[in-house]
Amino acid sequence: MVKEGMKEVVALQSKISRIDGEKGELEYRGYSIHDLAENSTFEETVFLLWNGRLPTQKELEEFKEDLIDRRRIPPEVIGQLSTLPDITHPMVVLRTAISYCGSLDEKLHKIDPGENLEKSKEILSMIPTIIAFTYRMREGKRLVHPREDLDHTANFLWMLKGEEPDPLEVEALDTDLILHAEHTLNASTYSSRIAASTKSDMYAGIVSATGTLMGPIHGGASQWVIEMLREVKEEMEKNGVSPEDWIKEKLRAGEIIPGFGHRVYKTMDPRAKQLKDLAKKLDEKRGNDWCSLSRRIEDAVREEKDIDPNVDFYAGTVYVNLDIPDEFFIPIFAMGRIAGWTTHMMEQYEENVLIRPLQEYVGEKYRKYVPIEERE
Ligand code: COA
Repeated sequence: MVKEGMKEVVALQSKISRIDGEKGELEYRGYSIHDLAENSTFEETVFLLWNGRLPTQKELEEFKEDLIDRRRIPPEVIGQLSTLPDITHPMVVLRTAISYCGSLDEKLHKIDPGENLEKSKEILSMIPTIIAFTYRMREGKRLVHPREDLDHTANFLWMLKGEEPDPLEVEALDTDLILHAEHTLNASTYSSRIAASTKSDMYAGIVSATGTLMGPIHGGASQWVIEMLREVKEEMEKNGVSPEDWIKEKLRAGEIIPGFGHRVYKTMDPRAKQLKDLAKKLDEKRGNDWCSLSRRIEDAVREEKDIDPNVDFYAGTVYVNLDIPDEFFIPIFAMGRIAGWTTHMMEQYEENVLIRPLQEYVGEKYRKYVPIEERE
């Protein structure tokens, strides 16, 4: 029986994360996303995902040191970043740079648990540097190199902005990365597992995942959300159109509202709840008012179509308050989700079965081949 879009198909078993779509629950390795968002750090969450357990203090310190040592990107990759046209979307830059990093890895094709973990650390640590360098090159600013005294997220904001990172901004982005780190068999993670199932290399799987994440109904929704918020704001200010009327008109025309709906959650995405609180805190600090606009949109979509917001809806409001340009929203998603992609690839390599579903053929059959000179 064909299940379009593999809706409700259980494709494999995994010990990494669990979603209860009816109850709106998400756990990484058995730990609630709320506990992790409120108490953990991105590095601790990555350790948990990769190792299946929380680290001791000593293990966490050693793990962080190990990641810090891997933040610099090869000079060849920096050179390549500068050759890409300015119109290249930062997600395309990211996947090109990751692929280039793979070409410089002498052990690219070596697949064993130790080597896979090494590559995972390399890629996870280099992604923030690639993103920050891309941003600064675009802005015509000097590159700000990684610092060894800062944690993963603080160092990223340092490299991005070239100034001492603000503690509330670090906390907000770190929580955002935890919330984006892992999410069962979403499309990009599945594509990384398909690559691993063919015994292709880690870089190939991550390039595949970054390409898949960029689509507007997956990770690309985060950029689409902020574009929508700006449009609604402009319509309200210039033409006096209320957000409620704007939403109703779009929905009645059969359009999709970015940041709403989910294949698995039948209630509010638990990550959206966390991000909504963060967005509110940042709005207050920055003197912005994105949240009240977002809330009006949330209520209008619920009233008109009874659909809840997903992770991307309030993520946009967090990023805009961190002065991150719209085109960099999806790369930030990738900066978090790299944790899940690498964990899934490692699980796939360990218990590998080639992922190769069947299809139902619905085209013509047994056609007679006619030589070209006899065709009309
Ligand atoms: N805006 C308007 N309608 C939506 C909607 C949205 N964001 N999300 C779902 N719907 C509607 C569909 O049109 C469909 O309505 P119908 O039954 O009247 O035809 C119904 O809800 C079921 O949606 P469907 O597209 O079949 O669900 P799905 O599981 O295939 O799609 C998404 C899930 C995520 C692709 C979809 O909700 C979507 O495109 N959301 C917007 C993009 C987004 O935010 N993506 C990030 C996800 S984390």
